[in-house]
Amino acid sequence: MARLPVVGGNWKMNTNRAEARALLSALRADLDGLTGTQVAICPPAPWLGDAADMLAGSTLDVGAQDVHWEAKGAFTGAYSAPMLAGVASWVIVGHSERRHVFGETSEQTNAKLRAVLAAGLRPILAVGERREETDRVSDILHTQLTEGFAGLDRLPAEVVIAYEPVWAIGTGLAATPEDAQARCALIRSMLAERFDAPSAEACRIQYGGSVTAQNIDGYAKQPDIDGALVGGASLDAVAFGAICRAVAAA
Ligand code: PGA
Repeated sequence: MARLPVVGGNWKMNTNRAEARALLSALRADLDGLTGTQVAICPPAPWLGDAADMLAGSTLDVGAQDVHWEAKGAFTGAYSAPMLAGVASWVIVGHSERRHVFGETSEQTNAKLRAVLAAGLRPILAVGERREETDRVSDILHTQLTEGFAGLDRLPAEVVIAYEPVWAIGTGLAATPEDAQARCALIRSMLAERFDAPSAEACRIQYGGSVTAQNIDGYAKQPDIDGALVGGASLDAVAFGAICRAVAAA
């Protein structure tokens, strides 16, 4: 079955408002109407409204970088999935920076994933091993998937998984396409075991970690890699456009 890839642009905590608006308009001018991949632009939360307005009516989707699992209440600084439903269609959950910089637990990632699905949004569940865990990648991924999907009895078609080895994020030390393919295939086999073969086969699995316009072709042609989650290169409209086109053409 052909899976439609997804390219996510995770801007992280970068851009001021003018820069964000300029980037959004450049991305729309370049990428609106691109077929062969979905594109989800994930700006910082303060610019989500701008992104929703500026990308409305285009083929580019808006995504959030995080979410709180509760729907509302006394959670200063947080925002919920029902709130995001008005401005975004994708939400990254369990990014390694949330897990390792902010101490997010697997239980919290799971609660976020479920909240995102309950709000009718599409979660991008990020998983991946740290450098010191490379000799037990399989166990780490198995644990992250098991805990991330706790309480789900089926794998919804809305779920995308991003395989992002932590050591490759923002370091320029990208995984080789062959290693990334092997990990994504491993994740797919774990999904088949946890859920069922057809939904595992249909699930989009991205690679993330130092993806650039120069190295994207290597990932895009791998059979189990369905797009990319892009950090640093997503802040450059030319580079991100080239990445999206390479994925679409693969
Ligand atoms: P990077 O970030 O492309 O800058 O390595 C990827 C990510 O964090 O999703």
